[in-house]
Amino acid sequence: MSSTITPLGIKADPRLSGRAVKRVAFDEGEIARRVTELGREISGAYPDGDLLVLGLLKGSFIFLSDLVRQITRPLQVDFLVASSYGEGTVSSGTVNLVYDPETELKGKDIILVEDIVDSGRTLNRLMAILKEREPRSLEICALLHKRIAEGLKYDAKFVGFDAPNEFLVGYGLDHAENFRHLPYIASLM
Ligand code: IMP
Ligand code: MG
Repeated sequence: MSSTITPLGIKADPRLSGRAVKRVAFDEGEIARRVTELGREISGAYPDGDLLVLGLLKGSFIFLSDLVRQITRPLQVDFLVASSYGEGTVSSGTVNLVYDPETELKGKDIILVEDIVDSGRTLNRLMAILKEREPRSLEICALLHKRIAEGLKYDAKFVGFDAPNEFLVGYGLDHAENFRHLPYIASLM
């Protein structure tokens, strides 16, 4: 497992092309260990039923691909796309569904996989949409949770880490589409 990356190490990371990243919030090893635990938790929580792991693109793509490989029971994977942030670092508040999953949702045990819960607006909106499709159950699995959402109507049953209230990038999370490929999670400012 990789050790914590020092500030000097971040500066030297060629993936960043000289751009500033403040510090590593979660390194590769920590993430891998937590994702393994989450996989075990989820495997145990669904002894039967048709499990559908539904990833919210694009932010969840790396987390989801690591997570499903740690779930030791049958499952299906699909994705949906919502857009809300544009190029800023503050939520615009408008959540649009750009791509709707093709998989039948009715009667399935659905886990909605999200990269990070910030204001909670995205989840409030998407959970309402998904509930109308009559799944057998509907839960949230978030890699990161800032725990600052006030109007959050749905609890995340599975959470990777409580996140600092900073803008985070890497392991799927972006800033203006950059930094998604970092194997660690870093704070940008
Ligand atoms: P919310 O609707 O405010 O909860 O925002 C959720 C979405 O905003 C996430 O799926 C992310 O795509 C994005 N987001 C929120 N906070 C961050 C962050 O710190 N870094 C990168 N993206 C973020
Ligand atoms: Mg984003």
